[in-house]
Amino acid sequence: MRRLNTQVVIIGAGPSGLLLSHLLSRRGVESVVLERRTREYVEQRVRAGLLEQGTVDLLRGAGLADRLDREGLVHEGFLLRFEGREYRLCFTDLTGWTTCMYGQQEVVKDLIKARETACGQLYFGVEDAAPLDIETDAPRVRCTMGGEAVEVVADFIAGCDGFHGICRPSIPSGALTTYEHAYPFAWLGILASVPPSTEELIYAVHERGFALHSMRTPAISRLYLQVGPRESLAEWPDERIWAELRTRFALDGREVLNEGPILSRGVTEMRSFVVEPMQYRRLFLVGDAAHIVPPSAAKGLNLAVADVQLLATAFTAWYANGSRELLDGYSRTALGAVWQGQEFSALMTSLLHRFPSEDDYMVRLRQARLRDLVTSRATATAFAENYVGLARARLAEAIDAPAVAPAFEQPDPPSETVTSLKTRVRDLDARGHAS
Ligand code: FAD
Ligand code: DHB
Repeated sequence: MRRLNTQVVIIGAGPSGLLLSHLLSRRGVESVVLERRTREYVEQRVRAGLLEQGTVDLLRGAGLADRLDREGLVHEGFLLRFEGREYRLCFTDLTGWTTCMYGQQEVVKDLIKARETACGQLYFGVEDAAPLDIETDAPRVRCTMGGEAVEVVADFIAGCDGFHGICRPSIPSGALTTYEHAYPFAWLGILASVPPSTEELIYAVHERGFALHSMRTPAISRLYLQVGPRESLAEWPDERIWAELRTRFALDGREVLNEGPILSRGVTEMRSFVVEPMQYRRLFLVGDAAHIVPPSAAKGLNLAVADVQLLATAFTAWYANGSRELLDGYSRTALGAVWQGQEFSALMTSLLHRFPSEDDYMVRLRQARLRDLVTSRATATAFAENYVGLARARLAEAIDAPAVAPAFEQPDPPSETVTSLKTRVRDLDARGHAS
């Protein structure tokens, strides 16, 4: 059996595993990344697309944003449609922060290229990876590479292998507590070769169900439809998809949806999942391996990046001066952000979707919440702070702060922002979108 030695063995070359390896290598810590799929497969896998400003800043700080800065589409607000009207929420006015549309598979391509340039040890097509001796100080991963049995011996294992990976199930039952919730609907997502119909995202709340208009590039649109929980793609020929999108995005008969060839399609179930703690001895769980959110608020990738940032710093401190404080605190700190992301994702999911069981009373409550979001500056600000990731940055600061600290610091609201929200609703009136 061939044997490799390293400091951190990383299972999974999704965004979490690749970014962790990259950050560690920049800080002088060696790692080996083992990925089950081929390089082509992980580079083409269509998933997330909305990067929070904090995520972009981290990628830029790590030398990973050359193409992202050229091709990413920076956004300052989104459109929200309900009750046949359109409103614009300018989250940059409310928070000072932006978001960026840039496909997850592009982030993955950039990361793989960076690992290649740095001669990083990254193996694709690795079969049967099995974490062993995780309760000892010398954990190992046994696997098969190109038909050959290989054992990677390391100081630590990072489980970056997603929701269906092998790391979480390798932890003895009883060591982890699971929290989960399944929603009674799913998302049918398409990638279409057509310029986006608007510059900004459109979240459309409709009595037939939610729809989202997003984009990847000026020539590629990404659209989602709320569908039944066990919907089969066979029931959704192209014409049915476009007809349903047209219906849900319709505004007083004004057709605004650009249509084009569908490049790929898939159904994503809507569920929430967290395990606690995110560590067992020398095995650390990162990103989707430890937690998933329904995609509504686009938090999955951004939360994974936040985990990686913490764990990379913790490993670096361990190797720089033997300090285990940050490694010991990894799970507790990460889970603070994870639950914040869970809460906001659940809020956005319940605000935007039609629940099969909801009665007219619940529908009206949801409509009242939506109206509050577009008319109350306080509600819009709290929402925007979560949407752009500022709330997570605040939480991180608060955790680092002294034990006795003011519960919150409330700067005087710039009255101009209140006006700008009102003005925006008025602007929309003038354009005939809202009353
Ligand atoms: P993954 O991306 O799942 O990577 C895990 C890797 O481990 C994979 O490459 C897998 O092949 C590999 N692996 C698994 N098992 C093994 C094994 N036994 N051995 C070796 N390798 C293994 N998030 C956002 O922030 N914004 C969005 O807009 C957004 N939109 C989304 C839309 C959709 C349709 C979906 C499905 C998700 C979306 N997400 C979004 C969530 C986001 O895609 C995930 O949170 C993100 O991929 C997590 O990254 P990860 O590296 O932790 O896990
Ligand atoms: C995307 C997905 C989301 O869930 C969201 O809220 C915004 C954008 C996307 O895939 O583009």
